Amino acid sequence: MTFDRSLKIAPSILSADFADFGREIRAIEDQGADWVHVDVMDGHFVPNLTFGPPAVKAFRKHVTTVMDVHLMISPVDAYINAYADAGADILTAHIEAGPHIHRTLQAIRAAGMKAGVALNPGTPADAVADLLDMADLICVMTVNPGFGGQKFIDMTAKVRRLRDMIGDREVHIEIDGGVDPSTAPLVVAAGADVLVAGSAVFRGGSVDKPEVYGENMQAIRQSVQG
Ligand code: DX5
Ligand code: ZN
Repeated sequence: MTFDRSLKIAPSILSADFADFGREIRAIEDQGADWVHVDVMDGHFVPNLTFGPPAVKAFRKHVTTVMDVHLMISPVDAYINAYADAGADILTAHIEAGPHIHRTLQAIRAAGMKAGVALNPGTPADAVADLLDMADLICVMTVNPGFGGQKFIDMTAKVRRLRDMIGDREVHIEIDGGVDPSTAPLVVAAGADVLVAGSAVFRGGSVDKPEVYGENMQAIRQSVQG
């Protein structure tokens, strides 16, 4: 993975048809997805349960772009190698998931993946001040994690702060939750470069109507072009 700060759209398959992940992944990539965002939930760190390493390994057979795995689990460290084996390109852990985020990020990189750290809406930007050389991505949650289709929580001040803190480091700012053509411009103007979108991409489409996915992603791209 080479680093560039051009705008990327990462559809979240949490909003996809759970009975058809392979075709859904191929459909969003065919329609222009830059990354594929995979939401792992354990029913403990968040009040929802999705899938684990075996499913992510199966998704990998269909992902030809970047598999961006978002761990909403606690604890994290015991599972890092399983997600490396499953083929995750980026593995993002929540700073709130345990006391040793620094060690977690070290372990993710040691396992050969890009390391991400996610911040819930209640966690300030300064919480990652000492992690900026350990992380390749900062995921700013703009919903409380656990579900798709929630209302956007405005975190633009946090995004601006992070942009200043990161400086010229090769660190992505990813926005996750409630991203659509009305909210995307706010966070991109504040300095975000990766937009996760679930319901705003999958809304109204299907594997039999994949062009709707493309139209939805295009609407987000156009919204930030000003
Ligand atoms: C929420 C997940 C998000 C979610 C985004 O816990 O981390 O990735 O799937 O879905 P939308 O875009 O519908 O808010
Ligand atoms: Zn996510």
